[in-house]
Amino acid sequence: MLLTKSKDDSKHELAWTRWVLQSARIWGDVSGIVQTIGIHAVDEDHRKFTQYALDLNLIIQALNNRDVSFDNLHRGAEIFEHLLDYAEIHFNREKRIMRKMESPMLQEHLEQHAMFLGMIEDHYSDFKRGRLQMVSGLKLSILDWWVNHINVVDYKTFVLGKNDNMRLVK
Ligand SMILES: [Fe+2]
Ligand SMILES: [Fe+2]
Repeated sequence: MLLTKSKDDSKHELAWTRWVLQSARIWGDVSGIVQTIGIHAVDEDHRKFTQYALDLNLIIQALNNRDVSFDNLHRGAEIFEHLLDYAEIHFNREKRIMRKMESPMLQEHLEQHAMFLGMIEDHYSDFKRGRLQMVSGLKLSILDWWVNHINVVDYKTFVLGKNDNMRLVK
């Protein structure tokens, strides 16, 4: 009985998380399901990047609703550039911290980052080529991946793997 109950609970939890990610417009809508890491600069990066991903979702939604204006196309391209630039800044920051900590997660963690950058680049090139249908699945995938990465991989690396060397890095 207990097992069934907890299974249902986690199903509800997942459905809830998905609903939040799909409906959110601003950081405050999702902040409750994003883990705090406890390193100020990292948490700030997480907040800013999340907002870019939410902004992108709004543009994608507008495009899917056939609001294909140049404004939306330009804005979409601008957000992709922000996402790529900011991901790079953030991933370099995490790399520096992991090196200082001598984190055993370093390799695995960097692979995840590289995969994510590749995913954003692929989506961006689809977007630039006007493949809007292909991009529709994107509404969730960037934000979904991002939040999941923070809650699982960043959490494991910087919260569960916390050590004294971390104090030396910003
Ligand atoms: Fe992160
Ligand atoms: Fe990370």
